[in-house]
Amino acid sequence: MLRSQGGAGFALTSLFVAFYRCGMAYDYELLYRETPHALGEPTQAFVDFFNRLDASGLSVLDVGCGQGRDALFIARLGHSVTGVDLSSSGIEQLGADAVRENLPIRGVVADLEHYAPEEDFDIVLIDRTLHMLDEPVRLDLLKRLLPAVKAGGWLLIADEKSNIAGFQNVLDDHSANWVPVLAKRGYLFVKRD
Ligand SMILES: C[S@@+](CC[C@H](N)C(=O)[O-])C[C@H]1O[C@@H](n2cnc3c(N)ncnc32)[C@H](O)[C@@H]1O
Repeated sequence: MLRSQGGAGFALTSLFVAFYRCGMAYDYELLYRETPHALGEPTQAFVDFFNRLDASGLSVLDVGCGQGRDALFIARLGHSVTGVDLSSSGIEQLGADAVRENLPIRGVVADLEHYAPEEDFDIVLIDRTLHMLDEPVRLDLLKRLLPAVKAGGWLLIADEKSNIAGFQNVLDDHSANWVPVLAKRGYLFVKRD
């Protein structure tokens, strides 16, 4: 959900909604610069997943983290989060929030078109970022992310419903076994065997 604000913030957020609904590319750098916490609360499916997890101190990679609505929620539960995004404003704001709350979050500014994780994670999550990339680029990125999920770890994707079958094909072609833990409209959560 988007925060509603008066004045320029409201106009900018309305513009964002219009672009978002049309599926057009949007300038997130501008949105984040003008509107703190522009995307509102963390995504409920991720909240439910992490609240049910019987573990703490996990390592989590948030791919396309934006201003970190999910990353902040996850780090507050005691997990260590690395957030990656193209927007330096988003990463700066995430870093400032993390310092203010003394949370274990590391922000990385990077273009996902070329990004490959340098370490492995217990959980890799991608909240509505893959659809921002052209199909060959998004599928290639997913292929580069799979090896970074530790055995017994999870890959959590929220995206356009129409993109999910393509993600499933990438998983099917990978050498590891990926067990579905949530497959509903626009979500694909899998556990690596
Ligand atoms: C719909 S927002 C989702 C942000 C965040 N996952 C959330 O749910 O709050 C999409 C994000 O993808 C990022 N993004 C788009 N293209 C990117 C790219 N090529 N490399 C890195 N980040 C990118 C944008 O900056 C934006 O933060």
